[in-house]
Amino acid sequence: MIVAIDGPAGAGKSTVARRLAERLGFRYLDTGAMYRALTWLAMREGLPLGDDGIRLGELARDNPVVFDAAGRVFIAGSDITANIRQARIDQMVPVVARHHEVREVMRERQRELAAQGNAVIEGRDIGTVVAPGAEIKVYLQADPAIRARRRQSERPDIGVDALATDLRARDESDRVRMQPAEDAELIDTTDLEVDDVVGRIEELIRSRSLAAQ
Ligand code: DC
Repeated sequence: MIVAIDGPAGAGKSTVARRLAERLGFRYLDTGAMYRALTWLAMREGLPLGDDGIRLGELARDNPVVFDAAGRVFIAGSDITANIRQARIDQMVPVVARHHEVREVMRERQRELAAQGNAVIEGRDIGTVVAPGAEIKVYLQADPAIRARRRQSERPDIGVDALATDLRARDESDRVRMQPAEDAELIDTTDLEVDDVVGRIEELIRSRSLAAQ
């Protein structure tokens, strides 16, 4: 079974997806981390990020992102788990993720990983593009001010206003990929605790499984 969890930054995807995967005993796949890893590598190589989609697509193909069992993220032999959460990566990742050559490589790889069995996959285009056949699709959303506040707990060195501006810029550039799938369950997480959201998704899985019997 594939559970697709899409939505904008700060809506709670990572925490919810990780906890849900743990509860279900499913693998957890963070597709945002894959775009972040590629952005980190492209910056290290000093490649222009804005206009050479072909070169970035090649870089992605030559350097598959690897996750270990503990969820650490590797690219080109480096453990970059912490590096990809830096503000400079937050800012540049939408520029890299915009190239269709990059998306094509990522999509292929994500589908391969999804084909390995039960998984909770989080991203922006999982329910619409990567796994349109996913049995369960959820789209998380939240009030922008709350999203900026949540991000601040992960980026204590950056002010909440700067984070809100950054989120707005990212939303704008991610917008085309951020539409919920038509058959996605929308959950507004503004006033919900993580366990409430996880509980709702588990309930959805139960009711769908019952309906399918
Ligand atoms: O969820 P995140 O903040 O780690 O995602 C980082 C960036 O990657 C985000 O700006 C959009 C992009 N992304 C994407 O385009 N498609 C995905 N499936 C996942 C992330």
